[in-house]
Amino acid sequence: MIRSITLFILMVISIAGQSQRSSLHQTINSSLSLAAEQYVILDHLLADSLFPRNIGKEEKLVTNKSGWWTSGFFPASLWYLYEYTQDPVLKDIATRKSKMVEREKLNTSDHDIGFKIYCPFGNQLHITSDSSTVPIIITAAQSLCKRFDPKVGLIRSWGSIQDTKDYVVIIDNMMNLELLFAATRLTGDSSYYKVAVSQADKTIDNHFRPDGSSYHVLDYDPATGAVRKKRTAQGFADESAWARGQAWGLYGYTVCYRETRDKRYLQQAQKIAAFMLKHQNMPADKIPYWDFNAPNIPNALRDASAAAIMASALLELSGYVNKKERKSYITTATTIITTLSDTTYRTKMNEKSNFLLKHSVGHLPANSEVDTPLSYADYYYLEAMLRWKKLNPKK
Ligand code: GLY
Repeated sequence: MIRSITLFILMVISIAGQSQRSSLHQTINSSLSLAAEQYVILDHLLADSLFPRNIGKEEKLVTNKSGWWTSGFFPASLWYLYEYTQDPVLKDIATRKSKMVEREKLNTSDHDIGFKIYCPFGNQLHITSDSSTVPIIITAAQSLCKRFDPKVGLIRSWGSIQDTKDYVVIIDNMMNLELLFAATRLTGDSSYYKVAVSQADKTIDNHFRPDGSSYHVLDYDPATGAVRKKRTAQGFADESAWARGQAWGLYGYTVCYRETRDKRYLQQAQKIAAFMLKHQNMPADKIPYWDFNAPNIPNALRDASAAAIMASALLELSGYVNKKERKSYITTATTIITTLSDTTYRTKMNEKSNFLLKHSVGHLPANSEVDTPLSYADYYYLEAMLRWKKLNPKK
């Protein structure tokens, strides 16, 4: 009797799980199809050399040129939408917009070349196998390595390579290492890989607090490589946990584990995930406040970009951990995607110039890009949905 009741309960749970999955399949498919239409229209609003950045005053579309750190996300998103739809129109736009970012492969003025070049051209390579992307990726990796000083053992995030006074490294830099791992794979030259590993190791040594949260900015002494100061730029306070910074770290160490199979990187990613998932200020819908220690929680702004990055990272990380953690990561990512796909966050056709997500926070202390769509929130939302579909193939 007890056995049959247990079996019945398990059956009900399994049917409920299946129907929840099937409903999210439908939500994701509708969101992706709508996104494809929206991005074609958004492209029509843009001059060839411009990229969507955010929505500014009076609901106006704000754009940027290829030099701004986010320029690669629009073409990279278009590649994902081409992957999903196989629509040649999207392929044409993705190709054209990627070409407009290509010149950034030589830009050594900051560390963001990974975002700018590897997001679009890495996607183009994976989705179309177009080998013309390979030299672009390699040149970009060479440019990024020009910002690496072996004495410090880190890539300089901000500031000129010639600067002898300051050497600034931010947690976001973890996101640029995927470009270096790719360059080693494509060339067989391990020097890129070694730079990435050095960056990942030093960041574990210096950037994290015992609870698994990270500082945003570290100031190093360029002469000795010693840490001078740990602080924030975009977070609430030096000792707070800026939400997107935590998400960059989570994603970055997940990639480092994928590329090296070094367990220390897996453990670091798990530690960051535990910090975020178990935090008392993590809301039930799993869209983090812009800073875990923002002063006016629960009335603080949420950051959809941090949520989208986190969902995508957790879905990949779920493939590297035990069953219990896998379930927790997938459940959280599923909640994030479900929340972001609902009308509070997801735009309707022609809303917000056809960005996909509302309510991200760029740089609150500078009162810049506050509670607005951002191209990278869209990009990681698309990536998370595609990853979710791959993890949950329709039977
Ligand atoms: N990498 C800059 C930012 O996350 O705002």
